[in-house]
Amino acid sequence: MGIGCGVAVRKPRAIVRNHPERRILHHMTNTSPGTAETATIDIRGLRVKRGHSEVLHGVDVLVPRGRLVGLLGPSGSGKTTLMRSIMGVQLGVTGTIDVLGLPAGSAALRRRVGYVTQSPSQYDDITVRQNLAYFASVVGAPRGDVDRVLDAVELRPQARQLTGSLSGGQRSRVSLAAALLGAPELLVLDEPTVGLDPVLRVQLWGLFHTLARDGVTVLVSSHVMDEATRCDRLLLLREGEVLTDDTPDGLLAATGAEDAEEAFLKLIAAADEQQAPGHASHGHPQHRAKEAP
Ligand SMILES: Nc1ncnc2c1ncn2[C@@H]1O[C@H](COP(=O)(O)OP(=O)(O)O)[C@@H](O)[C@H]1O
Ligand SMILES: [Mg+2]
Repeated sequence: MGIGCGVAVRKPRAIVRNHPERRILHHMTNTSPGTAETATIDIRGLRVKRGHSEVLHGVDVLVPRGRLVGLLGPSGSGKTTLMRSIMGVQLGVTGTIDVLGLPAGSAALRRRVGYVTQSPSQYDDITVRQNLAYFASVVGAPRGDVDRVLDAVELRPQARQLTGSLSGGQRSRVSLAAALLGAPELLVLDEPTVGLDPVLRVQLWGLFHTLARDGVTVLVSSHVMDEATRCDRLLLLREGEVLTDDTPDGLLAATGAEDAEEAFLKLIAAADEQQAPGHASHGHPQHRAKEAP
């Protein structure tokens, strides 16, 4: 698949906070401990209130540059809320979020970060090329960029087709193409593979890997655990808290599980046991906590 993002981002060996590798890698890269100069996303103490409830409960995350990071967790665990916070479009946020060294939502990030929302918005009654030309003007990307992103997602043959007549998978790729306009350094993709057939899912993951190899940081959310194995790093979210932040191999080794789904279930059981030893059958501890005076 031809990706020509032209992004020249150095690929430092960065690491995620609180991860056991952290100390070792700081030593290897000779950077001063505690700094996050190599991180694309640096989140500290993030709490988000939506409606009357808090849905993220103090999240700390460091996303290294040039990596493909999976944000995994069941429906309702807070993936979209976390991504919206990273994009600076979420209300009710406390804590700090730096993206490429700037506060989340800074105007200067608009051209540097590509975002695909869970419900993609395109105009059905114009062609694929017209949609992309419109989005290119919005982000200030040169018009010639449209051909580059069409090639990247292999949609050149559909360029003149009305967007409303595309298949579901093709529409997803239009959204992705729009996010690639302007050669962003960070891509935030909210469940881009949901509802796609297996062949297309594999193709899209291939594209994400190519982008990461070219130095783009790619944060992809999914509620499908088998997609975990395709990531360089995994962030497992559960009920608004980060359960773990590890490599796929590290996760399996730490839990002794056969696959990511089993590992996730083991981590949930361990977290429950830790919070309420001997009382696991009385419901989830967070629910009880909310009921407490
Ligand atoms: N607009 C909203 N108002 C109030 N609560 C919301 C709103 N949107 C989402 N939530 C709640 O926030 C929590 C996290 O949702 P979300 O971030 O969409 O999770 P995910 O993307 O993992 O499915 C859920 O409990 C959901 O019900
Ligand atoms: Mg979501």
